[in-house]
Amino acid sequence: MRTALVTGHAGFIGFHLSRRLLNDGWRVIGVDDLNDYYAVSLKQQRLSLLAENTALTSVIAPIQQEQQLYHLFEEHRPEIVFHLAAQAGVRHSITNPRSYFQSNLQGTFELLEAARAFPPQHLLMASSSSVYGSSDRFPYGETQRSDAPLSFYAATKKSSELMAHSYAHLYGTPITMMRFFTVYGPWGRPDMAYMKFIKAALAGDGIDVYNNGQMKRDFTFIDDVVEAMIRLAAVAPGAPAEPALASPPTTAASSIDSLSPIAPHRVVNIGNSRPVELMGFIASIETAIGRPIRRNFQPMAQGDVQMTWADTALLQHLTGFRPQVSVQDGVAALVAWYLQDFSEHEVLSRTG
Ligand SMILES: NC(=O)c1ccc[n+]([C@@H]2O[C@H](COP(=O)([O-])OP(=O)(O)OC[C@H]3O[C@@H](n4cnc5c(N)ncnc54)[C@H](O)[C@@H]3O)[C@@H](O)[C@H]2O)c1
Repeated sequence: MRTALVTGHAGFIGFHLSRRLLNDGWRVIGVDDLNDYYAVSLKQQRLSLLAENTALTSVIAPIQQEQQLYHLFEEHRPEIVFHLAAQAGVRHSITNPRSYFQSNLQGTFELLEAARAFPPQHLLMASSSSVYGSSDRFPYGETQRSDAPLSFYAATKKSSELMAHSYAHLYGTPITMMRFFTVYGPWGRPDMAYMKFIKAALAGDGIDVYNNGQMKRDFTFIDDVVEAMIRLAAVAPGAPAEPALASPPTTAASSIDSLSPIAPHRVVNIGNSRPVELMGFIASIETAIGRPIRRNFQPMAQGDVQMTWADTALLQHLTGFRPQVSVQDGVAALVAWYLQDFSEHEVLSRTG
């Protein structure tokens, strides 16, 4: 049985990924500190679903604690590592930067140290579309500049990419950085706007809509994200002369490839590549719920960007896959889950 280690397995993306790995026959070592940034009961319910499969080993601990990850790597020797644990959220980082420093920078450092001691075949780490800052070059390509973050959250993600590059170069561990674009779906995060929209629609409350609704987001459905991650895991960046593309490298592929010239390190966008107007997304939620949502228009929020749009040509070249789920289908699945399973968690949610 092959072993994968997933940090943040009680989180939204980590839960879906772990479930898929377990279903595919992997042994999964999950580590998560179950912090109360949002409803702990939601994280626990995700974990109890995962625990139905005995191939899961769950460890509840903070990743930044020295030696914690080191001992897990030593004991289980994972072949593939997915590093998803992080303090997420752009807005929260404006008022609470310290938790981002601890989880995203110190935590990532401890992860890299453990991988240095017990190298996996491939380490895949979560980054974010927020690293593109306010760039107005669309769609965002992995090789364009991304060194002017607008939030401390984005700064920690960009820093993680750079720390990973130095480790890939010095110690040779193949590392893929995954830049996620607004992931949504069942078991989603209560602090994200789409969950607040559904809650407001059901309660008959209004929602704050920033930049007077003049926003576009590249909403990416969770199943597409998991499929992309599973496929990417199979294409570890090779030595510089051996880029490990799924298909033979073409001129087009090599011009878009973000593979480092000196290290087995690559950055890949995971997005839908079809940005939708925020107002259109809200309308899809109104349709799925069958109730109108009152909008309170607000100016642009600090640290936010007007549009995100992923160029997914590299993902497609590497894996033969591009995200497919439409916003209508994705929102229908999200709302169906929310109505069936979510409401009980709202009572306990701090941010929802
Ligand atoms: N969801 C998105 O749209 C999105 C977009 C871009 C990037 N990301 C990144 O993807 C990853 C997963 O995001 P998510 O949406 O599943 O978030 P999430 O908050 O649901 O999951 C993160 C999990 O990590 C755990 N965690 C946080 N700090 C920890 C620590 N110090 N030690 C141990 N566990 C810790 C949390 O308890 C949580 O269960 C994160 O790195 C996030 O920054 C997500």
